[in-house]
Amino acid sequence: MTLTQLDGRRIIITGGASGMGEGLVRAFPGLGAHVVSLDFNTAGGSAIAAEAGAHFIQVDVADKSSVDAAVAAAINHLGGLDVLIHAAGIAPASLSENNTVELWHQVMNINALGTMLTNQAAFAALKENGGQILNFTSAAGIMGLPNKSVYAASKGAVTAWSRTIAKEWSQYKITVNMICPAIWTPMYDKTRSEMPADVLAAHDEIMKSAVPIGGKLGDIASDFVPVLAFYSSPGANFMTGQVIAIDGGTLMVR
Ligand SMILES: NC(=O)c1ccc[n+]([C@@H]2O[C@H](COP(=O)([O-])OP(=O)(O)OC[C@H]3O[C@@H](n4cnc5c(N)ncnc54)[C@H](O)[C@@H]3O)[C@@H](O)[C@H]2O)c1
Repeated sequence: MTLTQLDGRRIIITGGASGMGEGLVRAFPGLGAHVVSLDFNTAGGSAIAAEAGAHFIQVDVADKSSVDAAVAAAINHLGGLDVLIHAAGIAPASLSENNTVELWHQVMNINALGTMLTNQAAFAALKENGGQILNFTSAAGIMGLPNKSVYAASKGAVTAWSRTIAKEWSQYKITVNMICPAIWTPMYDKTRSEMPADVLAAHDEIMKSAVPIGGKLGDIASDFVPVLAFYSSPGANFMTGQVIAIDGGTLMVR
């Protein structure tokens, strides 16, 4: 398969220590991009970045001073910025009637506030020459997802935020789109591990029809990375405010 080339493109990827972020950190240098990986997990993130030919900087996306320092250091390392891919996030399970205030703040701080902070930090560099922001939403934030109401609320916030800045920052030629994946990652492994055996069996049965292509979540390297390569390229410059579902047809809404 020939992937979209990213020659010389300067790209920050958050969540680079696991899952989809890791997949991009591993693939994009081979497409010609200059990549800085940001993650809370220093051990995993730095090892992956070193193997991939990328640079790693530790960050807590929920902390403004940490984000500002890490993104500034990344932009300094890259000599500018063309693309921010903000994949870092968490998805803890909890029945809605049992949600605690602490859980609400934790998930909202990492998923929703983290999106605002990373996007704001990138804005200063992107507004000079334009560029692309790719945030990660979820079908949970659009359709709802039992046992994940706080997560769903946080992703609803990501979508509303992204569409608003897509309008505000269009004057700077900054595009803002949302990736809505259904891709098999450690986050999904954790979700599966929290299901009792009978629930997991029922889940796998439902997925056979819920995901029209393949009947299960997609593969990082073959189903996800090629799409992100295109959406990180200048070829996607005329799209903004869109939910881009990479999910085998699970979410057939706009
Ligand atoms: N896997 C799916 O099918 C799916 C579906 C819908 C949405 N998403 C979203 O896609 C994104 C990537 O998901 P994934 O499945 O690759 O997840 P993952 O759990 O494999 O990786 C998430 C990464 O985020 C990092 N992270 C968490 N909190 C952080 C913090 N405070 N600061 C910095 N880094 C932090 C983790 O260390 C980890 O490396 C997430 O935003 C997730 O909500 C995933």
